[in-house]
Amino acid sequence: MIMKKWKPAFISRFISNLRRGAAGFGFAAILFACAGTIPEPGDNHLHYAAAHGYSTSLENLREGRALMLRKCDGCHSFPRIKRYAPEKWPAIMDSMRIEAKLSSHQDTLIRNYLMIASGNLRDSLAAVTAAKHSTPQ
Ligand code: HEC
Repeated sequence: MIMKKWKPAFISRFISNLRRGAAGFGFAAILFACAGTIPEPGDNHLHYAAAHGYSTSLENLREGRALMLRKCDGCHSFPRIKRYAPEKWPAIMDSMRIEAKLSSHQDTLIRNYLMIASGNLRDSLAAVTAAKHSTPQ
C-alpha cells in the first residue's frame, strides 16, 4: 500500500507539538502575552494623555516604552502594566529608578509611558465591561 504524505511538515510538527504537552500552544501564548502586556503607543494613548493632563507625544511614549524594555528586565521579568493602576507607578518608579540607575529624563519617559499605558488599559477594559452589561440579552 502506498502511504500518501498528506500533511506538510509544519502541520505534522504542529500536531506533534500539541501532543507533546501543548508546547506549541505555550509558545504562542507567550508571544501573545508579550504583545498584550506592553502595548505599543498609539492614538488611544495620546487621547488618554490629553484627557488626563499629561504632556507627552507619540515619540516620547515610544521612547519610554523602548527604554522600559531596555532597562527594566535585568533583575525581574518586565513589569505587568495591567497589574498596577496609574496611581501606583510613581512610588514604584521612585525606587526602580534607583535600581535601574535612570537619569531623570529617562525616569520621566518611562514613568509617563507606564502611567498612560496602564490608565488607557484600565479605561478600555472598563469600557468593554460596560458594553457587555449594556448588551440586551
Ligand atoms: C537592579 C535590579 C532592578 C532593576 C534594574 C529594576 N528592578 Fe524592579 N524590582 C527589583 C527588586 C529587587 C524588586 C522587589 C523589591 C522591591 O519592591 O523593591 C523589584 C520590584 C519591582 C516591581 C514590583 C513592585 C511592587 O511593589 O509590587 C515593579 C512593578 C518593578 N520592579 C518595576 C521595575 C521597572 C519599571 C524597572 C525599570 C525602570 C525596574 N523595575 C528595574 C529590582 C530591579
